[in-house]
Amino acid sequence: MPNNSPPDLIRSRLREPADPALAKASVSVDFDKRLAPYDLAGSLAHAKMLGQVGLVSEEDLRLMIHGLQELSVEVAEGRFEWRAELEDVHMNLEKALTDRIGPAGARLHTARSRNDQVALDERLYLKDVVGKISRLIWELREALVKKAGEVKDTPMPGYTHLQRAQPVLLAHHFLAYYEMLTRDSGRLGDLEKRLHEMPLGSGALSGTGLPIKPELVAQELGFPDLSGNSLDAVASRDLLMEFLAFGAILAVHLSRLAEDMILWCSAEFNLAELPDSLTTSSSMMPQKKNPDGAELLRGKTGRTIGNLVTLLTVVKGLPMSYNRDLQEDKEPLFDTADTLELILPLAKAQVTGLKFNKSRLTELADDPYTPATDLADSLVLKGVPFREAHRQVGALVAYCVEKKISLAETEAEVLKRFCPQAEPDILKRLTLFQLLAARDKTPGGTAPKTVQLRLTRAKEMLAEEKDRRGAG
Ligand code: ARG
Repeated sequence: MPNNSPPDLIRSRLREPADPALAKASVSVDFDKRLAPYDLAGSLAHAKMLGQVGLVSEEDLRLMIHGLQELSVEVAEGRFEWRAELEDVHMNLEKALTDRIGPAGARLHTARSRNDQVALDERLYLKDVVGKISRLIWELREALVKKAGEVKDTPMPGYTHLQRAQPVLLAHHFLAYYEMLTRDSGRLGDLEKRLHEMPLGSGALSGTGLPIKPELVAQELGFPDLSGNSLDAVASRDLLMEFLAFGAILAVHLSRLAEDMILWCSAEFNLAELPDSLTTSSSMMPQKKNPDGAELLRGKTGRTIGNLVTLLTVVKGLPMSYNRDLQEDKEPLFDTADTLELILPLAKAQVTGLKFNKSRLTELADDPYTPATDLADSLVLKGVPFREAHRQVGALVAYCVEKKISLAETEAEVLKRFCPQAEPDILKRLTLFQLLAARDKTPGGTAPKTVQLRLTRAKEMLAEEKDRRGAG
């Protein structure tokens, strides 16, 4: 198919047209057309700079600006006709510009390669996505804090190994997710700090000999710095990896939250219920109320992990500098961004909609054997080495389990037999309220007054972040 369309446009050195199999594999426009608004913004800034340094005439610059603006409108309105035979978003837009404005369009690619062009497009895209996702995380964190406030006084059984361990406050449980998501948000903020370098001017790999001023492009596009190494600028994808790693970690957090909700809403746990609007029924079993939203939150996590692994694998072992393998970076990038934009609001709706069975939570929190640790601790205060106290109380629990009585029901003389140093009325004093209240020794404990402090701090942080964003 030797016609004058790219990639033939750039195949003058080659004597044969591309093999159809290669031509087909080369196409990326189906997915990279999403970069069009960023590509056009980059081209506009580049064209202006070419005009300023005199590499294109004023008249050509006028034509370029007009043509690029026209293309932006067409792309935004979905009227632009993408052509697979033009391979990628960059060639499509450049060809369309040249078709419209003639030779001036053919000057746009002066001192530029698709290698630095795509690196720029991806940074611009990431800047946008980072902003959107950090707002969505903020909203979910706010929902978690609100829910924690709503259930402030409700205790629940705390688990390790999914076995009842010690009572905690339900608010403490929600604030645990708040902490995870606050760190996720911090990770995104770190990435944002590293998005400050503008790569255009790196050319295909070595820079350019033409008298350009990349700092003008950077200024126009809002980048404070320029890439410090042209090879790195076109070859590296670690910023994308960082985003995908951040996304996978965040999704794993949401998946754990989803799993908690799924367990809580089962008849076996019966700790919580989702509103009908957040559940589905079965095509066969009319009685079913299924937590599909939570399951999808959990299920969507798989692809975010896959996307990270895909990109790491694509880049691993690539020789310096640009290699076409790197074209495979986009689908994982877009997919993780889309997935996060989908699941963050879903998680927020789930958290907000959840209703708790408070009496059952309180009842289960008051487990017959959870005072065991505090009983052992009371012996420690009497001078018994902790390991010995642990042994004594373990033996007492085994006795109670066999006799089918709770620790609180233990007779004073039985207690004395197993734990000679124990205060006779200690078991009466180790109430649920006391177990919770005692956990005020560390800033992260579950004592109601400690949790209240954390709740207040979380609200302040959210408000500060909102103000900062409003101001920024
Ligand atoms: N579509 C290509 C990509 O995403 C653009 C860069 C092409 N560069 C090249 N030397 N073939 O990586």
